[in-house]
Amino acid sequence: MILLPILKYPNERLNIVADRVINFNEQLTKLVEDMAHTMYHSNGIGLAATQVDIHKRIVVIDVSKERNNLMVLINPEIVTFSDTKELSEEGCLSVFDTYEKVLRSYSITCTAYDQYGVAKTFDAHGLLSRCIQHEIDHLNGRLFIDYLSSLKRERISNRIKKLNKLKNKTS
Ligand code: NI
Repeated sequence: MILLPILKYPNERLNIVADRVINFNEQLTKLVEDMAHTMYHSNGIGLAATQVDIHKRIVVIDVSKERNNLMVLINPEIVTFSDTKELSEEGCLSVFDTYEKVLRSYSITCTAYDQYGVAKTFDAHGLLSRCIQHEIDHLNGRLFIDYLSSLKRERISNRIKKLNKLKNKTS
């Protein structure tokens, strides 16, 4: 398995809208394996293909404590959002050291395929619901910090740019 490099904000390629997967083939299962490997290695609970600069509608998620419950979502779509919302903190492997509260539907109903092309429909609540919404946003070129006020986003962007400059000086 290969560790895939993760795009970091403010890389504009994070804003590309991903295309639907059409071919369920060996190349796809291999990519899913590499994405899962990359997510576990980075201690993330979710990773969208957009984040590894592959603009296809592919998501891997594992919200279990034991890190042994991989969920693969190909062409995922949310068909129902609950009116009940929850404000909770999020972070992202593509946004360095940033944790902010985002309001999201507590429950969703989702349709997706697995990596072998088998369709599934399921409900998700709480953290899993939040994570799926966050990852589908990635496929649509959207980051969780896009929900924040422009002032707050600017502050985050300035801090990350400063940190990047420091990093470039020391390396
Ligand atoms: Ni993310």
